[in-house]
Amino acid sequence: MPTNKCIGVISVGHFLPHMCVANDHFVSIGLDTSPEWIESRSGIRTRHIASDNQATSDLAVGAAEMAFKNGPISSNQIDFIIVATATPDHIGFPSTACLVQQKLGLTHSVECLDISAACSGFTYALSLAYSKIHSGMGQYGLVIGAETLSRLVDWSDRRTCILFGDGAGAAIVGTVDSGGFIGFNQGADGNCSHILNCLPTENAVQFSGKPYPPGVSMIHMDGQSVFKKGIQVVVDSLTQLLSEANINSNSIDHVVCHQANQRIISSVAKQMGIPLEKFVINIDRVGNTSAASIPLALSEANARINPGDTVILVGFGSGFTWSSILLKWN
Ligand code: ACO
Repeated sequence: MPTNKCIGVISVGHFLPHMCVANDHFVSIGLDTSPEWIESRSGIRTRHIASDNQATSDLAVGAAEMAFKNGPISSNQIDFIIVATATPDHIGFPSTACLVQQKLGLTHSVECLDISAACSGFTYALSLAYSKIHSGMGQYGLVIGAETLSRLVDWSDRRTCILFGDGAGAAIVGTVDSGGFIGFNQGADGNCSHILNCLPTENAVQFSGKPYPPGVSMIHMDGQSVFKKGIQVVVDSLTQLLSEANINSNSIDHVVCHQANQRIISSVAKQMGIPLEKFVINIDRVGNTSAASIPLALSEANARINPGDTVILVGFGSGFTWSSILLKWN
């Protein structure tokens, strides 16, 4: 049966692999770049890289455990697990969500699925969680964005490898006393799939310096087109979201935007007339972690978001996809 109760984020958590790689690493491996170029063009100074024995599901479990520790809902109350990822443990199956269920030791019946919407994945997954709970198909959901993008980039390609990092963020979603989700706006434009995609690549190099197998699928990106399209879809989506909710941008307390490029975030802030200070920013320390980016930033900022604050989450990425969510923090 559909519920009339408010639905919101109950608790959040995040996980970063221990290894932290600074911009000077790229010079040390012989790339024609500089720490100053990387920081000035992207805002990134460091990113975290998973060790060989850490799978995407391990990062996801670390984030989930923190979310359970931070809130009143225990893992055996969870009805479903959604993992948003572009870097699942396995191509094909089983889903990363099933592996998270197993690693969390959950033996009760839990619905588990992965979704693929690139950097919009976590916000797409949150809207799905909302729909399931609203329609009565579960009371509590564990929603995770987790990535090991370091395994999807060619570490000899200076145009991409400088941007991405590994990590995970998680949210427990369920019924709340007041506030919670107010509105959603999301969409996609498959005609722009070519500006950011994964293509068979020869002579690609792993983080370790070893070669990948020939023809492995690696990230390719038309950086300038992604830059322009990203700003356009985020501004359009936020404008529609606020208009449909009849909320003025002055009422927004925090914006958690996908951390793809500091200059994209600054441009969005300017075009939306929202002070940059209201944007949560951690790209300088963690780089672009795709589907993990928004929940990771949200969890890191949790201590400074007060109950009742109005929060926007907004993602964009390959597809091209976009997704924005308006909510009152609980
Ligand atoms: N170091 C030094 N020079 C470089 C590097 C590097 N790491 N990478 C590229 N260059 C060179 C280029 O080859 C080019 O040289 P040329 O003029 O001789 O051809 C020059 O720098 C300028 O390149 P641009 O691509 O025009 O540089 P730009 O200022 O656009 O910055 C960047 C590149 C950082 C990639 C930017 O375009 C960007 O951030 N785009 C959006 C990226 C993004 O958001 N990606 C992810 C979105 S969705 C998702 O996360 C999956």
